[in-house]
Order: sequence, then structure tokens, then C-alpha cells
Amino acid sequence: MLSRHIASKLRGLETPFYLYDTALLRQTLESVVSEAGKFGYKVHYAIKANYDDHLLAIIREYGLGIDCASGNELRKAVEAGFAPEGIVYAGVGKRDKELRYAIEQGIMAINCESIEELEVVNALSSEAGRTTDVALRINPDIDPRTNHCIDTGQADSKFGISYEEVLEHAERIKALDHLNIVGVHLHIGSQIRELHVFENMCRKVNVIVANLERLGFTFRFVDVGGGLGVNYDVPENEPIPNFASLFSIVHNHLYVGDKEVHFEFGRSIVAECGELITRVLFNKTTATGRKLVIVDASMTELIRPALYGSYHNIENITSEEEAFDKYTVVGTACESTDVFDENVGLRKTRRGDLLSIKSAGAYGMSMASRYNLHDLPGAVYSDEL
Ligand code: LLP
Repeated sequence: MLSRHIASKLRGLETPFYLYDTALLRQTLESVVSEAGKFGYKVHYAIKANYDDHLLAIIREYGLGIDCASGNELRKAVEAGFAPEGIVYAGVGKRDKELRYAIEQGIMAINCESIEELEVVNALSSEAGRTTDVALRINPDIDPRTNHCIDTGQADSKFGISYEEVLEHAERIKALDHLNIVGVHLHIGSQIRELHVFENMCRKVNVIVANLERLGFTFRFVDVGGGLGVNYDVPENEPIPNFASLFSIVHNHLYVGDKEVHFEFGRSIVAECGELITRVLFNKTTATGRKLVIVDASMTELIRPALYGSYHNIENITSEEEAFDKYTVVGTACESTDVFDENVGLRKTRRGDLLSIKSAGAYGMSMASRYNLHDLPGAVYSDEL
């Protein structure tokens, strides 16, 4: 981990802040681009994972497209210089003004998640005098075997149109004359570590695409979403996720002829290059004997532990102590769930020590809030140190 090696440089900086290892980000991008290139796959970056300008500029250098989930994310991507033809836009609830903007930009596809949305995009495109490229985001009904807070592709989920509904309304959808239905999209969930789940996904996609084409649809691409997990337990063991394994699974199980195959990776691109650096404010012991370390970050900088019970590995990067102790690391917010982790083995920890909360580059800063009127955290980049 970068912070351990440069701890002395970090000591004097105002905490908390995100530290980004841009060299690791570049290595990760090189890996995803070269592995995808072996099969001609196209990769989009899911900007919701982290919309930091400095990181986006690096990601753009590697030629990735963007997956966005709101009008503002779309605007951010366009302003960061990503070509609209490489941008897809999903989301269950897009406002009319967001759809108008996407239509005007002529993006690669609006991934529509209901029949009603298809009708609205058709009407707004007609008003704008345009024909819009859209993809059908289909709910594949797959259990991705991940934290249920972050699965998205099970039958009862709010995401995507049910396959049955598409079949039922196929004629109505094909009749929308200001739409080109150019693709099929799905996304089964996030932080998926059991890669065989993607085999099931491919089998479903094969059936969905074949049946819809039989009904008269013609698709140029299949977009299978993101979801590749990272190693939160011991990030040092796997700083770059195994893109090659995922691509080879898809290559061996997806049969969609010569259609383009697209991926939308968020976490797997940026999680490991980011750490949240926080300073120990106080130590105390509860009446029950629990040793608390109170740090100057909180759920307002990194909400994942409080929101999903997610685990992030924590290390004391400045302590010189040989001895370790067990601590509960808590934040400053006025919420009982503002706990980063319990029973963490740390070198003996004192006021002023710096802790690194690792693998925090994805869904960290992008989910930060100003609860308790906390300031938003800053960012420090390894290539600017
Ligand atoms: N495509 C779509 C349509 C998505 O909904 C998502 C993530 C992605 C791609 C990127 O998925 P990834 O490669 O990052 O797994 N805040 C949660 C994760 C929410 C993911 C939402 N959708 C967390 O911190 O774990």
C-alpha cells in the first residue's frame, strides 16, 4: 500500500483525505485494456464509483467509454472530454430534462429500464426531431451471490425491464419510430467474487438475445454491465483485479455472434488505488472493556461500512510500536452505526497516528455527504506528491 511507504510525507497534511495511487490506477487500466483487447471487448468506466477529475483524466487517456447513472454524471463525463458515442446511460428513474440532454448529446445508448421510459424517450426524441439509440436493460433474474444491498439483477429488483414484459410488449416497442433499439443491457450486481455467476449470466443473455432477435429485434451490441469484485480482505494480495478470468469466462460462455460486447466496470478500476487517510483523535475504553479509537473521518467520508456492513482493511501507518492490540475504530459522526470496524488488530495506537482505510477508491468519495456539516474530504495524488 502506497501510504505505508510515504507516511512521513502524509503526516503534516490536513486529514481526512483520500490518497490515490495513480501508478496503480494506470497499471489497472493497462491490464483491463490489454485483456479486453484480446477479445475485442469494449470497456466503459462506471463514473458513479468515483468522479474525481484527476482520475477521470487518467481513465480517459486509456480510451475507456463511460457508464453513467444520472444527467449530472453524463454532463461530468462530457465535460471531462469523453466522447458521447462511448457513453451509456442507465437508471430506473430518469427525469425528462436528463433524457432531453442525453438525446441532444447523441450518446451511444440510453439504457431504458421500463416500457414507459421507452415511450417517453420516443416522444422526447420526436419533439427534438431525432431518432435515439437505446438499449433494453433487461432484468436477468440472477442471484450474484454478493451483499444483497448491492445486487441488482434479481426478479423482484427495481432495475431493468422484466424479460417477460419485453416479450409481451415486443410489437409495441418495435413500433416506437423515434428509437433505434441497438442493444441489450444488463447488470447483475456488484462486488462479485464468485466468477461462475458470470457463466449463468452469459447463458441467460444467450437465450434473451436469441429470443428477442427471433421476434424481429436486431442488436448491434450486448452490454453485460460491471460487477467484478476486489479483494477487500487483503488488498496487497490482489491490487489489480482478475479481468483476464472474467473475460475468458465471457468468451467461453457468451454466444452472440459478432455483436460488440461491452462491460461497465466501476469498483474494479478504482477501488484499490484509493485509501482514506485519517488521524486518531482520541482513545478510550467503554465500560464493557471495548477499546475505541476515535478517528477524524466518519461515515460522511466513507459510508460503506455503516450502510452495507462492508469490510475495509485498516492499518496504522505511522505507529512504530511492535505490539498490536484490538480496537474498534469509530468515526466522528453523530450516529451509532458510524463504525469503521470492530476488533481490528492495529499496532498500539495513539492520538495523532495516521490510519489507512484501504480499498476506498470506489464508492468512497462519490458517496460522501455533508451530514453534521462535515467538510468534504480532500484528495492527494501520488503523481503530485
Ligand atoms: N453498471 C451499472 C448499470 C451499475 O448499476 C453499476 C453499479 C455498475 C455498472 C458498476 O458496477 P461495479 O463494477 O462497480 O460493481 N455503492 C455500492 C455499489 C453500488 C453499485 C451500483 N451499480 C458499494 O459501495 O458497494
